[in-house]
Amino acid sequence: MSWTPSSWRKFPIKQQPTYLDQKALKSIEERLSQYPPLIFAGEARTLKEHLAKVGRGEAFLLQGGDCAESFNDFNANSIKNLFKLMLQMNMVLMYSTGKPIVKIGRVAGQFAKPRSSDYEEQNGVKLPSYRGDIINSIEFTEEARRPDPENMLRAYNQGTATMNLLRAFSRGGLADLNRVHQWNLDFIKDNPLGQKYDELSYKIDKAMKFMKACGIDSKNTPQLHQTTLFTSHEALLLNYEEALTRIDDETGEWYDCSAHMLWIGDRTRELDGAHVEFFRGIQNPIGCKVGTTMDEDELIKLIDILNPNNEEGRLNLIVRMGATKIYDYFPKLLKRVRDEGRNVVWSCDPMHGNIEKSGDGLKTRNFDKILQEVDAFFKIHRDMGTVAGGIHLEMTGNNVTECTGSMSSPIKEADLRSRYHTQCDPRLNASQALELAFTISNMIIE
Ligand code: PEP
Ligand code: CO
Repeated sequence: MSWTPSSWRKFPIKQQPTYLDQKALKSIEERLSQYPPLIFAGEARTLKEHLAKVGRGEAFLLQGGDCAESFNDFNANSIKNLFKLMLQMNMVLMYSTGKPIVKIGRVAGQFAKPRSSDYEEQNGVKLPSYRGDIINSIEFTEEARRPDPENMLRAYNQGTATMNLLRAFSRGGLADLNRVHQWNLDFIKDNPLGQKYDELSYKIDKAMKFMKACGIDSKNTPQLHQTTLFTSHEALLLNYEEALTRIDDETGEWYDCSAHMLWIGDRTRELDGAHVEFFRGIQNPIGCKVGTTMDEDELIKLIDILNPNNEEGRLNLIVRMGATKIYDYFPKLLKRVRDEGRNVVWSCDPMHGNIEKSGDGLKTRNFDKILQEVDAFFKIHRDMGTVAGGIHLEMTGNNVTECTGSMSSPIKEADLRSRYHTQCDPRLNASQALELAFTISNMIIE
């Protein structure tokens, strides 16, 4: 069956907006398809090589960022805080594993959201659900909830500006290993976790001084001065993704140039659906969420459609089952994939299977449950003799109160409203995320 960037249009599709003005939609798609790509295909190939190492257990994957980026909260500080948090977690994990950490942000394009219901009802008024800023707006009015294709242009522009700043941070000196102390975020500095991070920074300082004495420093060794943060998002709105899908001159292959890596959500991964059709034709490294409704035969079929050549680093399966359910549903899938010799990168999303409602109706997640799921993920892999490749988190570098628990930022249900800023699902704040990195380090060393 031949594939083109638009062949998905002939397949059944879920979780899409209904645009009223089809002419306007078409004209926006055409404009977008003339705009420059956000990434270069060669970068996506490099990421694939890195992910192949993750799959073999030679590197570890850290993927994280907002549940949904927002147009209103777009500012340099949030981007910088996320970048610094990634660097801190990178340091903690790299120091404990002794392996390179492959860093991928849920950033610069993470705008489209699948929803459990097409409509939302408030005080007897029923409106279409919010589907992410690339589609409609979060305010509960008829006008705000109407899907507007112009939002795709805003998402593209915000994605581009975000990417630009991330590239500047990566190359411009902020990531220099002589600056590990400066990555510590202000609100973490004073708590025990901040001190723990400081202790680690001193060890790294010492190692840097030692290497400098040997003649290796950030002036002559770019690896000490620069880093790479790859970008990713859920490619849910295929109109946007199609418009940014381009042929790579060097290889003649198609790449979705809206991000380095794209993934399929748990709600849109049907074998004969539009999303799987779109993904099979792009050569980027790709991911697919795997929840409790996946069965073994279906998973093997999915792998064979998405990665027919069994290429290493091509396919990341992101397990999201819940702290206890993971024991019931994951081992049989893992065993089957192992026994059939399919090359995949396994990572753990301990967020989406652990959502609960607080007493006054806010969506939240408990830190201990998140930890439990990660712990289970590592244990199951250890028993099976397979590679636990990495983690996939919803987190922010800002000091929000969206998830409960943790030692370093002990948020109780009653505190949630004080800084609850997420557009969609609750995120770990920076100290919760850093604490998670330290705890995971211990699990890996065990
Ligand atoms: C997400 O990652 O934000 C998401 C919606 O996940 P899932 O597809 O696993 O529900
Ligand atoms: Co989410």
